[in-house]
Amino acid sequence: MSTSKPIDSELILKATKLKQHYHVKQGMFKAEAVVKAVDGVSFNLEKGKTLAVVGESGCGKSTLGRMLTMIETPTEGELSYLGQDLLSLSKSAQKKLRQKIQIIFQNPYGSLNPRKKIGSILEEPLVINTSLSKAERKAKAIVMMEKVGLKAEHYDRYPHMFSGGQRQRIAIARGLMLDPNVIVADEPVSALDVSVQAQVLNLMMDLQEEFGLSYVFISHDLSVVEHIADDVMVMYLGKVVEQGSCEQLFNNPKHPYTLALLSSTPQLSPEKRRKRIKLEGELPSPLNPPSGCAFHGRCSYANDRCRSETPLLRTEDDSHLIACHAVEENRIEAFAEGVA
Ligand SMILES: Nc1ncnc2c1ncn2[C@@H]1O[C@H](COP(=O)(O)OP(=O)(O)OP(=O)(O)O)[C@@H](O)[C@H]1O
Ligand code: SF4
Ligand SMILES: [Mg+2]
Repeated sequence: MSTSKPIDSELILKATKLKQHYHVKQGMFKAEAVVKAVDGVSFNLEKGKTLAVVGESGCGKSTLGRMLTMIETPTEGELSYLGQDLLSLSKSAQKKLRQKIQIIFQNPYGSLNPRKKIGSILEEPLVINTSLSKAERKAKAIVMMEKVGLKAEHYDRYPHMFSGGQRQRIAIARGLMLDPNVIVADEPVSALDVSVQAQVLNLMMDLQEEFGLSYVFISHDLSVVEHIADDVMVMYLGKVVEQGSCEQLFNNPKHPYTLALLSSTPQLSPEKRRKRIKLEGELPSPLNPPSGCAFHGRCSYANDRCRSETPLLRTEDDSHLIACHAVEENRIEAFAEGVA
């Protein structure tokens, strides 16, 4: 009889209450302040699935990405990869596992060394982390270039000879050179023209299927993630305010912040037209976050309870999580209908 445990075999990455609190000096004579860039984020990421992380600039998306790829150690919380606690591993064991969780950045101009040819950019991770021969490295680079839609003759060209979309393809190919299981893509299409965005997203979806990749897909733009995400996490000032399946988030959004983000997103299909909720005001300073619900200064549903008591993330229905007093109190009217 087999003793192997198939349960949870698909769970690739598990984050539990991850926090990143930065201690910053505000000025010469002021006391040290704490920025809670990420403040208790949890999720499960399964093989072949995509978790989208969305929210305005400064809500903690990239900080989360840096913790997931072990570029930064969390202040608190747990992170496990295929059941192994990443944070308790030795530095050398962490380095080895880091190969399996790669990051791709937003800016395909800044992230590629302009003095290096594409071939050597792609082979660099192999030089550092493997004992493959020069010929083997080149063969692997060329295979990967073809997988991302580049040609073998591009091997000896420099990054400036490519368009933004092609450069992002090169960055994706580089991220795949060490056969990772997880890709953290930090705004991978935000710097690209809308027409090119769709091509790169389609490529990412094809590669996901071919290699069984799991993605953490970071974006400030909800419309970008609708077609690629399986699950969506909406963040506000370091905290998750709504989390659920893509279907739950797009067809049955609940949190006023999610509603506002969605209503600022162009909707083509009339059946998805939404009542407009304008996102007013600026994101508050993370150095001095508002009391209670951090969104209360911008929320038309805010009341006294919101101003004093921080809403906890609670299950609304079937793994749909929301942190909002008005949702809990049933104060938010049906949203899907209304005027576009
Ligand atoms: N090393 C650091 N030291 C101090 N504060 C930091 C540091 N890195 C990030 N922050 C702060 O943490 C908060 C979250 O920043 P982060 O870059 O993660 O946001 P983001 O959601 O990725 O924003 P964007 O959409 O602009 O990329 C911000 O207030 C930022 O100023
Ligand atoms: S808790 Fe209150 S302020 Fe916060 S989102 Fe809900 S209704 Fe708005
Ligand atoms: Mg960022």
